[in-house]
Amino acid sequence: MSNVKFMSGENIPLEMHKVRMVQKVNLLPVEERLKCIKEAGFNTFLLNNRDIFMDMLTDSGVNAMSQEQYAAMMNADDSYAGSETYYRLEAVLKDIFAMEYFLPAHQGRACENIIARSLIKPGMVTIMNYHFTTTKAHITLNGGIVEEIVSDEGLKITSDAPFKGDIDINKLKKSIALHGKDKIAFVRIEAGTNLIGGQPVSMDNVREVSKICRNEGIRLVYDASLLGDNLYFIKKRDEKYKDVDIKSITREIASLVDVLYFSARKLGSARGGGILINDKDLYMNMREFVTLYEGFLTYGGMSVREMEALAVGLVETMDMEVINQTPIIVEALCNELLAKGVPVVTPPGGLGCHVDAMQFCSHVPQAEYKAGALASAIFIASGVRCMERGTLSEQRNADGSERYAEMELARIAVPRRVFTLSQVKYTADRISWLYKNREIIGGLRFVEEPKMLRFFFGRLESIGNWPDILATQFRKDFGESL
Ligand SMILES: Cc1ncc(COP(=O)(O)O)c(C=O)c1O
Repeated sequence: MSNVKFMSGENIPLEMHKVRMVQKVNLLPVEERLKCIKEAGFNTFLLNNRDIFMDMLTDSGVNAMSQEQYAAMMNADDSYAGSETYYRLEAVLKDIFAMEYFLPAHQGRACENIIARSLIKPGMVTIMNYHFTTTKAHITLNGGIVEEIVSDEGLKITSDAPFKGDIDINKLKKSIALHGKDKIAFVRIEAGTNLIGGQPVSMDNVREVSKICRNEGIRLVYDASLLGDNLYFIKKRDEKYKDVDIKSITREIASLVDVLYFSARKLGSARGGGILINDKDLYMNMREFVTLYEGFLTYGGMSVREMEALAVGLVETMDMEVINQTPIIVEALCNELLAKGVPVVTPPGGLGCHVDAMQFCSHVPQAEYKAGALASAIFIASGVRCMERGTLSEQRNADGSERYAEMELARIAVPRRVFTLSQVKYTADRISWLYKNREIIGGLRFVEEPKMLRFFFGRLESIGNWPDILATQFRKDFGESL
């Protein structure tokens, strides 16, 4: 929000944009929502968008673009090789990040594929604050091992630590001493740490980790997919950066790392991805993979129209009035839910509001995918589609045993500049109703479990008929209301 105080003293998020194009959405009656989630195998990824009222599955590729981004798309240079669009995007990236080389890729996980193939040899360890699903899949697929050393605060649901995504420096030192630098593929910092509730990493932490890595000769890789949110929090929560402009903060981060990559479905509100590197040899090595897996070097699997939108979106990310829009809505949603006693991750992060299924569904065993059950129940109660971020999103251990997630979260993502405050209030209202009726929610079990990234396509069924009971209770409490 801009510096606007309300006379009432209420802290109301104020949108700093106006809506000029809309998409009609439908809210189905609860009985139909129940039918839809059953048909989707209790997996919110498998719902049809036409059956969804508010799509809060993710912030990925579904952010509202600005009129300047749409205008830029018309100006794209559509050529296989040597496109002007590529050079425009490269120039913007150089200006913002001041890193030497740029490699385009079709999205964030494609960057992860290239990085993992270039830097990981079987048995090597990658140390990070916390994994992301696709990051871990690429590392393990290449024979690597993921080690997570996020600060202890990072795994607490309730906290007032401003930077819960920080790496624990003592653990980092111990881990390097234990493995030896030659066995460490790289250290990875994820901005706006996704799976622990969109929690930011402080500049002090990046600086300290960088110093250690440089002393040891270990590469530091920075996942900047959620950099926009993280920049907002650095400015907001670190007194030292209160008056520093966003671009200078961005450049400082970039100056401390060796490789920086991003999903442009998040950063820059377009669709694509990219890797920035300083080391020429590494660039040459990675370049081979771009042409093999992505496309020619001057588009890397992206549409040139998206590249133009990305170039503008990145410039717009350097504006506090743009990047503050999601975190203030997330905070408003978290506060509405907290006021009703609903357990959510605090302090509110970027990306979305994270409901703690461990407490919400304390009666459901972790083996019955309590966060997945909660995500399905939220859809039945509201028509809002959110995402499970818990055990379902984990990979099984090598011996096939279940790996229980440290956090069981239902993530209510807040795509950038998409939903209004009344829609956000509706979401809070229905989740609060669900919380009052939480004892009805039961567990889920797999009927079809893919080997890799099982949360995308896995199909489940309810243990017992709790979804029907929930829908009946909704009808009883809300009468004719949708
Ligand atoms: C932190 C982080 N890294 C990487 C990715 C992967 O990006 P993409 O979905 O574009 O493949 C995501 C996507 O959600 C993410 O949140």
